[in-house]
Amino acid sequence: MRGTRLLLAAPLVWLMLACSGNQHALDTRGPVAAKVATLFWVMAGVGSLIFVIVMALLWWGLIRKAPDGGARPLRYVHSRNLVLLSGVVIPLVILFFFTLGSASVERDVGKPLPAGTLTIEVIGHQWWWEIHYLDWRGKRHATTANEMVLPVGRPVRLLLQSADVIHSFWVPQLAGKTDLIPGKTNVSWVQADKPGVFRGQCAEFCGLQHAHMGLMAEAVSPEMFEAWLARQRAPAALLTDPALIRGQQVFLAAQCMMCHTIRGTSAVAQLGPDLTHIGSRRMIAAATLPNTRGHLAAWILKAQDIKPGNFMPNNHTLDGESLNALLDYLQSLQ
Ligand code: CUA
Repeated sequence: MRGTRLLLAAPLVWLMLACSGNQHALDTRGPVAAKVATLFWVMAGVGSLIFVIVMALLWWGLIRKAPDGGARPLRYVHSRNLVLLSGVVIPLVILFFFTLGSASVERDVGKPLPAGTLTIEVIGHQWWWEIHYLDWRGKRHATTANEMVLPVGRPVRLLLQSADVIHSFWVPQLAGKTDLIPGKTNVSWVQADKPGVFRGQCAEFCGLQHAHMGLMAEAVSPEMFEAWLARQRAPAALLTDPALIRGQQVFLAAQCMMCHTIRGTSAVAQLGPDLTHIGSRRMIAAATLPNTRGHLAAWILKAQDIKPGNFMPNNHTLDGESLNALLDYLQSLQ
């Protein structure tokens, strides 16, 4: 009995968990996610109603007595009609409307957006997100990693690609999942209706650090968005402070420049995230660590201890003075 009660309580507990926490799929902040959530609630509501009706009928069947106290078997002719109606006709009608609703939501979510829509290219890597903002000609004009900023109230087209294996783009509060498939470009769109920061997560198992492939989406006012985009487009500022110049020398002399780009310097490798404006990001290592000086230091020295198997090696050669100069420099890249 206790087991049955637990079993019945499990869906309720699950629903309560799904309605709160960091990435609430049902606490929506944009039209795409809202449509999917509405469909979910309709289906869950109708499903629950049917469950209650079936259980009530079962209960009624169990306690019901034949008019003569059970001496004769009940006539089953009426039951056969009931079975045909509730077992065939009603489910077909309900499934028909569910299919219609599902197809209509899918059409809205997959609809092509008008020309001139702000477009972001998202490329999945093991285990981080390469993000490019495209201009009206479809040319990349700003590059970042693991974080995207969106203007509130404007639809944004996403071009989803993968550099290695299948990943899946999922910012639950903004939209459902869309896969990133090697050799293919999937198109999807999101829109945030209010300012806010929304955490996303790769939703397709893609290797050892799949769970540490997060991303942040921040919705800001259109003016703040334009200012942010202008800052991201610019190369790193020219340095005059000797301490920062020393930090840049460390970056260019150590193994950092083998994998990373800092636009405006001689570091142009594209194996890892573009670090031109890393100081302006909230998180590092694909939303694994907050972007603080301490976490950045830990990541530079011990990336393999934090995310084993990722492409960033541990660093055994940096001394304290060089590390501090490097941290000063990276944090200055706003
Ligand atoms: Cu990328 Cu899971």
